Amino acid sequence: MDERSDLRAAVRTIPDYPRPGILFRDITTLLGDARAFRRAVDELVQPWPGSKIDKVAGIEARGFILGGAVAHQLASGFVPIRKKGKLPHETVTIAYSLEYGIDEMEMHRDAIAPGERVILVDDLIATGGTATAAVELLRKMGAEVVAAVFVIDLPDLGGAKRLRDMGVTVRTLMS
Ligand code: PRP
Ligand code: HPA
Repeated sequence: MDERSDLRAAVRTIPDYPRPGILFRDITTLLGDARAFRRAVDELVQPWPGSKIDKVAGIEARGFILGGAVAHQLASGFVPIRKKGKLPHETVTIAYSLEYGIDEMEMHRDAIAPGERVILVDDLIATGGTATAAVELLRKMGAEVVAAVFVIDLPDLGGAKRLRDMGVTVRTLMS
C-alpha cells in the first residue's frame, strides 16, 4: 500500500452518524495508529521546512490533537480556538454558521501579535463554516494566515474552495 492509501485506510467511516444519511469520517482510528498519526502530522507540516511559523492555531476539538503535534514539529507556539465560554481571559469572538443555526468561537485577545505567521489546523473541512470563521478571527487579530491544513476534505461541501477564495493556501491529505 502506498503512504496515502495507508492513511486513507486508517480513517473509519460510520454510516448514519450523527444523523441518518450522514457518512461520518472518524479520525480516532487514525490517531490510535502510531504510524498513521505520525505520517499525517509529517505530511501536514511538510511544505514549511525552515520557514518560520510563529503559531499554530487549532480548532476545538479534534484540531487540538493534530495542532499540538504540528506545533511541536514546527517548533511553533499553539493557540486554541474554542467554542464560546471556555477561555478564561479576555477574548475576541466570531459567529459562524453550522448546518442548523449559528455558534460562536473565540480566542484570547493576546494569543497572537499583529504580523505573526500562523497555520490553522483542523481534522476535516466540510462546508468551511468553521474554518472560514477561524481565518476571519485570526486576520482580525492581525495574523498572517500562511495556510490552513486538514487531514480530510469533503470537496462536495465546498469548504476548501471557500477558503481558497479568501486567499488562503489549503493543504488536505485526502478527499
Ligand atoms: C467538525 C470538524 C470541523 C467542522 C467541519 O467539528 O472537526 O471542525 O466540523 O465542518 P464545517 O467545515 O462544515 O464547518 P464539530 O463542529 O463537529 O466540533 P467537535 O470537533 O468539537 O466535535
Ligand atoms: N467527520 C467528522 N467531522 C465532520 C464530518 C465527518 O464526516 N462532517 C462534518 N464534520
